[in-house]
Amino acid sequence: MTAQPEWSLSPIAADPRYRMLRHISRVLRGRSLYPAGHPQLRDAVNELLGSLDGLFEGREEVRIVAVDDRLFIDDVRSLELEMVSHDLKGRLKTRGIELLIFQPGLEGHELLALVDGLTSGTLPPLPHIQIGKLSAERPQPDAAAVQVDFGSQIQELRQIFEGWDEIQGLVVDQVERIMRVLEDQLFANRSSLISLASLKSYDEYTYTHAINIAILTMAQAESLGVPKRLVHDFGVAAMLHDVGKTLVPEHILKKPSKLEPHEYEEMKKHPITGSILLLRNPSIPKLAAIVAYEHHLLYNASGYPALPRPRTQHLCSMLTSLSDFYDALRTNRPYQTARPSDEILAMLQTRIGTHFEERLARHFVSLIQARTAA
Ligand SMILES: [Fe+2]
Ligand SMILES: [Fe+2]
Repeated sequence: MTAQPEWSLSPIAADPRYRMLRHISRVLRGRSLYPAGHPQLRDAVNELLGSLDGLFEGREEVRIVAVDDRLFIDDVRSLELEMVSHDLKGRLKTRGIELLIFQPGLEGHELLALVDGLTSGTLPPLPHIQIGKLSAERPQPDAAAVQVDFGSQIQELRQIFEGWDEIQGLVVDQVERIMRVLEDQLFANRSSLISLASLKSYDEYTYTHAINIAILTMAQAESLGVPKRLVHDFGVAAMLHDVGKTLVPEHILKKPSKLEPHEYEEMKKHPITGSILLLRNPSIPKLAAIVAYEHHLLYNASGYPALPRPRTQHLCSMLTSLSDFYDALRTNRPYQTARPSDEILAMLQTRIGTHFEERLARHFVSLIQARTAA
C-alpha cells in the first residue's frame, strides 16, 4: 500500500473546538492525578488557554451548552465533538450545570478553580467563566432547529474524492466514519433533514451534495421500512453516486454557465467512470457501482448512459435520483438560484411516470413536506 500520512488524519483534529474539548479532558484528567501546581497540570492548562485564545478570535465568548447528553458549542451541535467530551458532559451533568461560558481574559487559575469546583461541587465566582442553567431568555438549543455541523464530514469527503486513486484502501474506513455520524443523526433525530438547509455552499458543492444525497436517500429508505443494515448500504451508495465526476475535467465541472454540447457529452460519462472506479474497490458494496451507473437513468428508460436494452433501476437508484433532483435545485450555483422547496416538489410531481416512479415520488414529496414542517 502506498504511504499517505496526511491522509489518515481526520479533519476533525484540525477543528479548534475539538482541540479545546481534548484539552479540557486533559485538564480534568490531570487534576485527578496531580496536585495543583504540578508541571503536567500546568502544561495541560496552558494548552487549554491556547486553544481558547484561538477560539476567542472574532467572538465575545465561547458558549458550551450541555443538555440531555447533547453538547452544543456556540449553539452548533457536532456528533464528533460530543464523542470527545464525555468527561466534561459527565461532570456538568453531575453538578446540574447546563451552561458554561468562557470569556476573553480568562486565566489559568480560573480554569483550575473550575476543574476543582466540578470535582468538589463548590464553585467560586470566576471573573471570566459563567456557569449555570439555561435561562428562559436564552432557551436551550433545539436539536431539530439547530444546524447540525457536518463541516468535518464534508472535508473528509473532499479528501476521499480528491485522493481517490491513491487511497483505495482507506476509502472504506473514511466512508464508514462519515456514515456513523450520518446514521447517528438520522436515527436519533428524524427531523434532521432540516439541517440540510445549512448545506448549500457553492465552493463545497460536490461534497455537500454527496452528504445531502446520502441523508435524503437514507431518510427515504428508513421511512419506507428498508432494514437498517440496508439503509446503511443505501447511504454509502448514495454518497458515492457522483464519484465519477472526479474524472470530469475541472473547467467543465466548474463552468459557471451552461455547458456546450461537447462538454455535456463529457459530463455524461460520469455514471460509467464512477461505476468502474467503485467496482475496482472490492471493499465497497456492489450496490454503490449500480447506483453510480443508474442514477441518471429515468423511470421511462430514457436518461443516460444509453443502454443496449432497457433495464429497471434498482430501488436505491430510484431513491437517489429523487434526492438528486431535489438537492440540485435547492442549491445556489453560479448559473442557478436555489428554488424554494415547494416549487421543487411541484416540479418533481410533473415528472411522475416519466422521470420518477409514482409511489416513490409521492412518498418523497410527503416526507419532505412533513420533515421541513416539523
Ligand atoms: Fe450525477
Ligand atoms: Fe448528483
